[in-house]
Amino acid sequence: MTQPKATPVESRGGETHQTAGGDIPVLTTQQGVPVSDDQNTLRAGPRGPALLEDFHFREKIFHFDHERIPERVVHARGYGAHGYFESNGALEKVSRAAVFKKGEKTPTFVRFSTVAGNKGSADLARDVRGFATKFYTKEGNWDLVGNNIPVFFIQDPMKFPDMVHAFKDEPDRGFPQAATAHDNAWDFISLTPESMHMVMWVYSDRAIPRSFRFMEGFGVHTFRLVSAEGKSTFVKFHWKPKLGLQSVVWNEAVKINGADPDFHRRDLWSAIEKGEFPEWELGVQLFDDAFADKFAFDVLDPTKIVPEEDVPVQVVGRLVLDRNVDNFFAETEQVAFCTQNVVPGIDFTNDPLLQGRNFSYLDTQLKRLGGPNFTHIPINAPKCPVMNFQQDGHMAMRNPKGRVNYEPNSWDGKSPREEPGPRESPAAGYTSFPAPVEGPKVRQRSETFSDHYSQARQFYVSQTAIEQRHIQNALVFELSKVSRVDIRARMVSHLLNIDAGLADAVAKGLRLKEAPKPMPAAKPTRQDLKP
Ligand code: HEM
Repeated sequence: MTQPKATPVESRGGETHQTAGGDIPVLTTQQGVPVSDDQNTLRAGPRGPALLEDFHFREKIFHFDHERIPERVVHARGYGAHGYFESNGALEKVSRAAVFKKGEKTPTFVRFSTVAGNKGSADLARDVRGFATKFYTKEGNWDLVGNNIPVFFIQDPMKFPDMVHAFKDEPDRGFPQAATAHDNAWDFISLTPESMHMVMWVYSDRAIPRSFRFMEGFGVHTFRLVSAEGKSTFVKFHWKPKLGLQSVVWNEAVKINGADPDFHRRDLWSAIEKGEFPEWELGVQLFDDAFADKFAFDVLDPTKIVPEEDVPVQVVGRLVLDRNVDNFFAETEQVAFCTQNVVPGIDFTNDPLLQGRNFSYLDTQLKRLGGPNFTHIPINAPKCPVMNFQQDGHMAMRNPKGRVNYEPNSWDGKSPREEPGPRESPAAGYTSFPAPVEGPKVRQRSETFSDHYSQARQFYVSQTAIEQRHIQNALVFELSKVSRVDIRARMVSHLLNIDAGLADAVAKGLRLKEAPKPMPAAKPTRQDLKP
């Protein structure tokens, strides 16, 4: 055990001063100037006015004044840890990515989060949980920016700002914080039939995890893996916790939030400090165009799952979290995940939500992290060589060396200042899978996205009786907080398309005077639409 460093304490004029000496280093300003007194401002006489020339005070207070950065526009409350991903090699033939080579051990950073609450909100809100993983691979950073629920509320990114506005604080009163229990959220949901599958998950026990260590994770979208030969395979990503899946019930969550709003972060921190490293298996569902074509739903629709009975999940590696951060702000707050961060062998599909996300993250981080150079911050910097001719901007730490900052160029490295710099590589470089594209420019949802109820029903009926009762109770509790009776009734109209027993229980719980009619549902399924 290391001995605590002795800190001499001296009392001067009734103040406590702890002075440097021995093992205790000297306090300095940001300019490195040693500080003689960190307790008193410079004044003209002990009772006189403060002097503007007090550079130490001005620097200290200036820095303090600028400590806050904007919190994330969503997923503001989160907790992160370091670890590693170890591949078992099962994907070697399907993806050329180095991260999937057998035995490859890749450093990772994971941030878990709630979605709707602000940075200071309670951990056990009924909410979706983010499960974002940064893999610092040998070929660059790959971010798998997932959630603990395998589907999403909306199909098109155009609706994301409206959805988030409706879920977060109402703008006039500034509350409440969660995606539940208020008029705007339920108004939006009840007018968005595509959200019904997600609603079933969010009002199930899944939405109040016991801890991050007992939580699944999902990439949600269908992605592509691309082999060394250029063959593409569709993939859905799954994280399966080694400890199994566990949740708490609403009554427990309410008590825990009151007693310890930091319950989830404390749990993760303590487990890692004790050496009880949490672990997840990375699983994949792999399928090809033929399966995608015959599947009843569109694999590009992020409100749908691919059932594990149809396409079993294969384990391709494991994730272990074994190190807490040294500094919460530097690492957990400043980490910037982005769906667009992919590496050779991993590619996108035309899922419209995914494509919208690819724009949104970089854009928001430009503001949140104060300029274009946030990839220079250690938590975001790749652990492989980074060489390009990007330069300047606020806080630039990694500018080109020498006189060459463009290419092509004719410099030949005859002097150290005249190094030609890096060059592109058709063999090693990222190439997009050449999926053919054509079609008229339209603002139109595919009809193959229009069955909003079948998978919601499948989820509800797959639950045990007690789990179904929890969904009923959660919906009654939350909807009973909605002041508009027409919004409550509209929700019951949707539930009638999911399960009659569920709709009946919720209508009774809400004491609706008149039974609403089922919401007119778009009939066609993927199969009906086939010529
Ligand atoms: C965070 C946008 C859908 C998972 C964020 C942030 C934005 C955003 C702006 C804040 C990022 C930051 O400040 O660093 C969007 C948009 C979406 C969308 C526009 C749809 C159009 C999704 C979906 C998932 C997801 C479908 C899950 C599959 C996350 C996670 C974070 C996040 C986990 C937190 C990352 C962290 O811990 O730093 N999203 N999002 N988002 N989003 Fe999304």
